[in-house]
Amino acid sequence: MTNRKIGVLVSGRGSNLQAIIDKIRDEKLPIDISIVISDSPEAFALKRAREAGIPAMGILRQDCADKASFETAIDDALRGAGVELVVLAGFMRILSADFVNKWPQSIINIHPALLPAFKGLDAQGQALQYGVKIAGCTVHFVDAGMDSGPIILQKAVPVFDEDTHDTLAARILVQEHTILPEAVKLWSEGRLEVKGRKVRIRKA
Ligand code: GAR
Repeated sequence: MTNRKIGVLVSGRGSNLQAIIDKIRDEKLPIDISIVISDSPEAFALKRAREAGIPAMGILRQDCADKASFETAIDDALRGAGVELVVLAGFMRILSADFVNKWPQSIINIHPALLPAFKGLDAQGQALQYGVKIAGCTVHFVDAGMDSGPIILQKAVPVFDEDTHDTLAARILVQEHTILPEAVKLWSEGRLEVKGRKVRIRKA
C-alpha cells in the first residue's frame, strides 16, 4: 500500500509539525509529509522540516499580487506534491472560502482552545482574560468559517490562579502535540466519518 500524503502549513516555531514528524517516525506510520509550506521565510518550522528531509518552501503573501494568487500558489504547491490532507499547524492566516471549498473535509487545524469558545487570535489569552477554569485545544476540520468546522478531537487542561499566558499556553501545547498527530493518524486510517457537524471516529 502506498503511503498517505499530507502537506503542512506553518507560520512559526513548528512544534506541532515536529510532533507529527516524531509520531510518524516513532510509530512507523504509512504517512509521508510531502511538503511543508510557510508564509514566513524565517519560520523555524522550515528548518525542522529540512532537518527531517522534508521538502519545505516559503510562499509569502507580500510576493503575491493579492490573496487569491497567494492561495493559488499554495494550492499549486500542495497539489504538485500530491497532498491528500492539508494540516494547519500554527498557520496564522485565514484561508478564503474559495480555497477551503477546493479541499472538502481535507483540511484540519489545531486551535489552542476548547472550541467553540475563544476563536481567533490569542485563544490562550482570551481564556485567561475570561477567567475560565478549564482550557484546552481542539483539532477540527476547516470549513469556510473561522475555527468553526466539525470537531475531531479535544483535550482539556486546568487553569490555575497563578497561571501566566506562558504557563497556560505551555500546558495546552503539550496536549496539542498529542491530539494533532493522533488526528492525522486517524485520518490516514480512514477512521474519520463526518456527518454534518459531527465527526464519528470509527473503531480500528
Ligand atoms: C499553537 O499553539 C497553535 O495551536 C496555534 O499557534 C501555535 C503554533 O505553535 N495556532 C493558532 O492559534 C491558530 N489559530 P507551533 O508553531 O509551535 O506549532
